[in-house]
Amino acid sequence: MAIRYEFIKQDKQTGARLGIVHTPHGSFETPTFMPVGTLATVKTMSPEDLTELNAKIILSNTYHLWLRPGHEIIREAGGLHKFMNWDGAILTDSGGFQVFSLSDLRDIQEEGVHFRNHISGEKLFLSPEKAMDIQNALGSDIMMAFDECPPYPASFDYMKASVERTSRWAERCLTAHARPDVQGLFGIVQGGEYEDLRKQSAQDLVSLDFPGYAVGGLSVGEPKDVMNRVLEFTTPWLPQDKPRYLMGVGSPDSLIDGAIRGIDMFDCVLPTRIARNGTCMTSNGRLVVRNAQYARDFGPIDENCDCKVCKNYSRAYIRHLIKCNETFGFRLTTYHNLHFLIELMRKVREAIKEDRLGDFRDEFFESYGFNKP
Ligand code: GUN
Ligand code: ZN
Repeated sequence: MAIRYEFIKQDKQTGARLGIVHTPHGSFETPTFMPVGTLATVKTMSPEDLTELNAKIILSNTYHLWLRPGHEIIREAGGLHKFMNWDGAILTDSGGFQVFSLSDLRDIQEEGVHFRNHISGEKLFLSPEKAMDIQNALGSDIMMAFDECPPYPASFDYMKASVERTSRWAERCLTAHARPDVQGLFGIVQGGEYEDLRKQSAQDLVSLDFPGYAVGGLSVGEPKDVMNRVLEFTTPWLPQDKPRYLMGVGSPDSLIDGAIRGIDMFDCVLPTRIARNGTCMTSNGRLVVRNAQYARDFGPIDENCDCKVCKNYSRAYIRHLIKCNETFGFRLTTYHNLHFLIELMRKVREAIKEDRLGDFRDEFFESYGFNKP
């Protein structure tokens, strides 16, 4: 088995889990946040930056790397780790979600999905077998099953048929997976907001015995309380001795609320995407550093942050760079935002160790401004 979850303890206030996931490219403590490197790079960051930030695992995308440069080139390079010079762990999403969010003219069949390349318009076909072949070529430590992520809201009948097909696809993924000894494969629970379907999906996948499970189909436009409720009735069906991953979630409040509901891993483009548009996450909430009010502000992005950006560069300088579209500005805000979320998860783990995650949540929400009307 390529992936092993070591459970350490549960927080007495909330039930959140503290653990360690062991992979062929090192171990990481959970709960953890994974920076997103869609095209084999976390935009503007070098692998050295990621190491300095204490990132242990990053996410990349099957769909994008299949189209460019092509998985055969990455296979020839000796896999994605070598290709991009990153020796930490890598998780790859299966392309299931990207086919649905990026392509048009898709046609979902039992065999797989026909769609058009979002860059060239060329006709393409992705199936469970193809998604496994590509991820085997990439050599990621954690591969994801090929699933359907239906839009929100979807009718019960549509969702039921989709969940059942996603379970059949998951079984085909396990059969097609060529390297289970060195690459872990996670199943993805779907079912939208429907309790019965989440249970059915979780039970179908758990019976197939994956080394880890993801909760998919969330953060697709549903209100926050719907996400929390879905997690509350989904995670109890997942085994205690395997990691649980909430896909596509990265706002600070949802990371804490997800951990409280038993989630161990998260990923999202949010910190890196908003950084390139001049928005920073700080201990006092979001700060739009490109705003005019910071033109003469020579203080750091966040006075409570000890990252190297906050130690050395001012709001006024970073604002100037970003207003001028200078890439160094994007590097600085990206570095700070990743530091903020990676530190947040370290603080969450500290709080679990000391049985005070409930108190930590209250304090964090107060200072970040989530409690304000
Ligand atoms: N990323 C965010 N949500 C999902 C999902 O439901 N499925 C997959 N494969 N990736 C996702
Ligand atoms: Zn900082």
